Amino acid sequence: MADMDGFREAADFGIGQASPQTGFHVKGASSMGWGMKDRLSRIFSPATGRTVMLAFDHGFIMGPTSGVERIDLSIVPLIQYADCLMCTRGILRSSIPANVNKPVCLRSDAGTTVLTELNRNVLIDVEDAIRFNASAMAVMLSAGDGEQEAITVANLVRAADLGNRYGIPVMGVTAVGKQMERDARYFALASRVCAENGAAIVKTYYCEGFEKVVASCPVPIVIAGGKKLPEEEALALCYKAINDGAAGVDMGRNVFQSESPVAMIQAVHAVVHDGLTPKQGYELFLDLKNH
Ligand code: R5P
Repeated sequence: MADMDGFREAADFGIGQASPQTGFHVKGASSMGWGMKDRLSRIFSPATGRTVMLAFDHGFIMGPTSGVERIDLSIVPLIQYADCLMCTRGILRSSIPANVNKPVCLRSDAGTTVLTELNRNVLIDVEDAIRFNASAMAVMLSAGDGEQEAITVANLVRAADLGNRYGIPVMGVTAVGKQMERDARYFALASRVCAENGAAIVKTYYCEGFEKVVASCPVPIVIAGGKKLPEEEALALCYKAINDGAAGVDMGRNVFQSESPVAMIQAVHAVVHDGLTPKQGYELFLDLKNH
């Protein structure tokens, strides 16, 4: 353990300075093997370097919440507009047609309705991830959460080791507990710990000072959408995150709880990939909704 006494607050983030690393469109992936790069290229568009992941794994801890009661009715019609699907194997096998031909970021840790040590220390069998042809495995890391941190770091390290064996990247999902700060310092810490422990992608939350979170994380960051916002605000959240360096979104409720989910996911896609402003994105949303 390094001596914390001599540590200084991080300050030199090199904001705005391009990385000298080149040769691949996904941040931090230049030195990876072909299989990893292929899977990352299925998730992150080679044209824009970005992704719109559709997250619908909420039921694995929350049960049938609003918008995911009937995945076959609410989520399947959205799939054609998503770049990547993020869900559990139970939903993938039971409710998603195998011919949708979309990359899957498979939720690969365990979920229970009550958070205990156990559910943070279990991974699905990596062979099941291979059988599902997963393009990535998503695993939570709970930074700054006492003993849970060590447990979830160990879980993520194990997932990264297994992923490295078979060429499957791991997405570190930064946890947000009730007691945890939701500021740039915390999200930068959590994201960096994910990357240093082997995550090839990090999912975290947008916050003030987000450009520092992105700059100090050596792999691409996608943001979760969080609780449902009015559509224009949700599009502004996407826009600000992309502007501050996010490589995309992993969005659920702000899409499937929208008054028009099909219009919303297309508007999110246009903001993420085509650079539409929140106003332009909202106009597109209204156009699509009304036709
Ligand atoms: C987080 O761990 C959940 O699994 C969701 O995938 C994530 O929060 C994204 O969904 P939402 O945009 O609804 O927050």
